[in-house]
Amino acid sequence: MDHEEKSFEAVPVETVASYWNNRPCNIRHSKSERGTKQYYDEVEWRKYFVEPHIPAFAEFNKWKGKKVLEIGCGIGTDTMNFARAGATVTAVDLSIESMNIAKHRAEVFGLSDRITFYNANAEELSKTVPPEHYDLVYSFGVIHHTPHPERVIEEIKKHYVNENSTFKIMMYNRYSLKSLRIILTEGKGKFWQAEKLVATHSEAQTGCPVTYTYTHNSIKKLLKGFEITEEFVDHIFPYQITHYVNYNYVKIWPYRFMPKFLFRLLEHFFGWHLCVTAKPLKK
Ligand SMILES: C[S@@+](CC[C@H](N)C(=O)[O-])C[C@H]1O[C@@H](n2cnc3c(N)ncnc32)[C@H](O)[C@@H]1O
Repeated sequence: MDHEEKSFEAVPVETVASYWNNRPCNIRHSKSERGTKQYYDEVEWRKYFVEPHIPAFAEFNKWKGKKVLEIGCGIGTDTMNFARAGATVTAVDLSIESMNIAKHRAEVFGLSDRITFYNANAEELSKTVPPEHYDLVYSFGVIHHTPHPERVIEEIKKHYVNENSTFKIMMYNRYSLKSLRIILTEGKGKFWQAEKLVATHSEAQTGCPVTYTYTHNSIKKLLKGFEITEEFVDHIFPYQITHYVNYNYVKIWPYRFMPKFLFRLLEHFFGWHLCVTAKPLKK
C-alpha cells in the first residue's frame, strides 16, 4: 500500500455514505419518471447494455432456491435478478438513499418477500446482519469504495461463508485503460498522483472519496483464506460521454472502427473490472 492509498484509510465511512447518497449508482440510467416500472426496466437495460459481462459473472439462474448475500446492492439491479431467478436475497448498502430505491424497486416488481434489506456498513456487517452461512456472497463494484476493504473480507470470512459457499467479487483493475486515460487526461500525466486521480474520476459523479484498484497479486492477498477458482478482466466503456448522457451510444475513436475481436482482447487485458470467484479454504 502506498502513501496515497493510506489516505483512503483515513476517510470516514460517513463521507463514503454521503457521496453515494448524493448520487446513487446508475440513478441516471433512464430518463423516465423515477420509481416507475419503465424507469427500473430502462435502468436495467442500460446497465447490462454497458456492462454485458455482469449476467454471465453473477450466474443469476444458478442461485435459484439458494441464499444470496449481496454487499453493496446500490439501487438493486442485480438484486432484482437474483430474486427473480428464485434466490432468497439479503441485500446491504451503506447508502440509505440507494437502499430505499432498491427496496421500492422490489415492491414495484413484487419481489419484496424474497429480499431482506439492511442499511449497514459492510466493514462491521455482523453488527447489523445476523451471521449465517450463505450459498453466494456477491459484491459488484463495492468493496474498493470502502476505507478498509480487508475488514469487509474478514467479516465475510468469519460470519457469512462456509466451505460450500461461493464468493463473487468485482474490484477495479489497476492496470487498465481507464486508469491510464484518467491519469493522462484529467491528471495531465501526473502518474505520482495516480490513486487520488483515479478515485476522483472513477465514477459518474466526480470526487469519489475512496476507490482502491487491484492487481492479480493484491486481490489474492486481500482474499487470504479463499481459493480463487476463476478470475478475469473485462469492461471497457467505449462511448462518448457527451452523447452517452443524452442516451445516445456513439463510440469514441478508435473503438468505432476496431474489429470486435480486438476490442474483446483489449477488454480482457486492460479492462476496468477484475472479476473474481472464490471459495473459502477449509479451516
Ligand atoms: C459503484 S456502486 C455499486 C452498486 C451495485 N453493486 C451495482 O453494481 O450497481 C457502490 C456501492 O457500494 C456501496 N458501499 C460503499 N461502501 C460500502 C460499505 N462500507 N458498506 C456497504 N456498502 C458500501 C455504496 O453505497 C454504493 O451503493
